[in-house]
Amino acid sequence: MKPNFKFFYFDILSSTNDKAREFAREGKSNVIVVAGKQKKGRGRFGREWVSSSGGSYMTIVLKDKDLDKIRYLTFIAAVAVARTIKKISDIDAKVKWPNDVLIGHKKTCGILTETISGNENYALVGIGLNVNQKEFPNPIMRNSTSLKIESNKKYNIKKISKLIIEEFNNLYLYYNDGNYGKIKEAWKKYSHTLGKTVKAKTMSGDYIGNAVDLDDNCNLVLKLSNGNIKKIVEGDIFIV
Ligand code: BTN
Repeated sequence: MKPNFKFFYFDILSSTNDKAREFAREGKSNVIVVAGKQKKGRGRFGREWVSSSGGSYMTIVLKDKDLDKIRYLTFIAAVAVARTIKKISDIDAKVKWPNDVLIGHKKTCGILTETISGNENYALVGIGLNVNQKEFPNPIMRNSTSLKIESNKKYNIKKISKLIIEEFNNLYLYYNDGNYGKIKEAWKKYSHTLGKTVKAKTMSGDYIGNAVDLDDNCNLVLKLSNGNIKKIVEGDIFIV
């Protein structure tokens, strides 16, 4: 069954993920926290997520059984964003492993999925989409874009957030049923990463190889030039 989400709108928040954490600690789930701006938007590895007005910033709060498949939630969110972008602008956005949505080679959306574990477990799926921004501060300008920059149109952010959630829900049904193969299949259709030669920068070093597949834990499978297989669990991917 599709969750019946309740939206909570704020003009400004420190981070929608932090507010979402408060909701979860109060035992609330199936909640969506939306902010017009964030003072301390964050991304993976504690990086800053520039969150001026004009972007869509939201976090989905979900109760989760054991949190061991939550990386699929990031994939669901990425595909939901790519589908929404296509619907509203006809732009073909792509998903980049593990948590980005790109237009061309530039990033237009990042997803930060965090967890709370205890008697009840929660997943917090934070989605930041660049919508109406005309520019970004350096140095991210070079690698970032927005729907406005790409199409020269202005979009209704509230409507976009709702469409993303609709698309999220469609794939979340598979997640609830444990049908993770369907989610991988959907992600692969939009993939910017698979089939390319990439450099993976990880904590244990850099690896260059052909991105051949995803494994069942959403790790990126690289085939190295010596023929060995290397699974990338975390890190940043660059096309070489
Ligand atoms: C990344 O690219 O590393 C992930 C960026 C995620 C940004 C979103 S914006 C909404 C939510 N709140 C945050 O503070 N971060 C996520």
